[in-house]
Amino acid sequence: MRVDVAVLPPKRAPGRTCLVVDVLRATSSIAVLMGRGLERIYPAASIEAARALRAQLGDGPWLCGEVDALPPEGFDFGNSPSEFAESTLPGPRVVMATTNGTPALLACVGAPLVMAAAPLNASACVELAVEAGHDVLVVAAGRRGEAADDDTLAAALLAARLVEAGAEADDGAARAIERWERVRDDLAGAFRKTTHGRILVDLGFGHDLDFCAQTDRIEAVGVLRSDEAVPYLERHQR
Ligand code: MLT
Repeated sequence: MRVDVAVLPPKRAPGRTCLVVDVLRATSSIAVLMGRGLERIYPAASIEAARALRAQLGDGPWLCGEVDALPPEGFDFGNSPSEFAESTLPGPRVVMATTNGTPALLACVGAPLVMAAAPLNASACVELAVEAGHDVLVVAAGRRGEAADDDTLAAALLAARLVEAGAEADDGAARAIERWERVRDDLAGAFRKTTHGRILVDLGFGHDLDFCAQTDRIEAVGVLRSDEAVPYLERHQR
């Protein structure tokens, strides 16, 4: 099994297992929501698409997500994983729209296995990827079409775990792992130096950076399914 890291989402679905990472904060939020027992998360490509999807799906799903890191008007929740960890959640199904994370997941529809991955549920994701046995591409969501250090570092952590589990690192993974090794003892500190990390701190979400830097707190994984008209993430419990 081989593992590589892509610093941006692919243009076409890769023929490999995809571990999609938007550590600040979409895939960390998904890990928390799945850990809290949600049944389904519908990733939407935009805020408008999320509203339309909720209307199409009828009664039931609530809405969460962000625009410029803040809750969109009329949404039930924003995109704060620490808030999801502590709040009473409105129901078992949610439609989520974020700037980079949910579009990155949708970019991988068609790959043999797609997971929303984060340091928070790293071991559970790696275990599932190893079980599937395909080569793995860890896909960093990036930020508005540019590579983002927070996602690349979190992607490297997952790639390093896969290497520990016996995978062979391709060049992209080896480069990312080398950078991650320099900051692995203070991932939250490294997040604070990134553009998106600084924006979140300025908005009062500094606690989310510490929360998202934790590893292996959650045994559940959101696995992307596209066997229905609308793709959704289903909970896989380790
Ligand atoms: C995104 O998808 O861009 C993020 O998760 C943004 C955020 O919640 O800060």
